[in-house]
Amino acid sequence: MAGVLAVSAAGMLQAVRTSERRRKGDGVMAWHDAADITALQEGSILECDVAGRTIALYLLGGRVFATAAICPHQSAWLAQGALDGDDVCCPRHGGRFHVPTGMQLAGPACGPLQTFAARVDGGRVLVDLPQPLTMDRR
Ligand code: FES
Repeated sequence: MAGVLAVSAAGMLQAVRTSERRRKGDGVMAWHDAADITALQEGSILECDVAGRTIALYLLGGRVFATAAICPHQSAWLAQGALDGDDVCCPRHGGRFHVPTGMQLAGPACGPLQTFAARVDGGRVLVDLPQPLTMDRR
């Protein structure tokens, strides 16, 4: 026999908040609306401003990816570079990064490109970005 689960409205709200805000690394993460899926074209880079920061969106093989918009070497804008398969090539010094993982594949030593989880919901691209930490006294 199936059990009966009684959950209060406050409990449900807390569960939603917990699922929407998770700790990752050193900050609280949250999904943000970034763009309409129709704005992304296969094999091109879309630069957009989300929650106070600029990110780059990619549509690769029908999957959406998000990274920092600037190169970790000397901050060139990656949307001015080129895509080669799953790799983005920096326009300034030829740094090459694997978009799905951020791994640096070539170019001056600088470390990985920051990546963010991305998903599509109702035709909108959502990106999981760190939230600024605030004091919540509720
Ligand atoms: S700024 Fe991108 S490789 Fe130097």
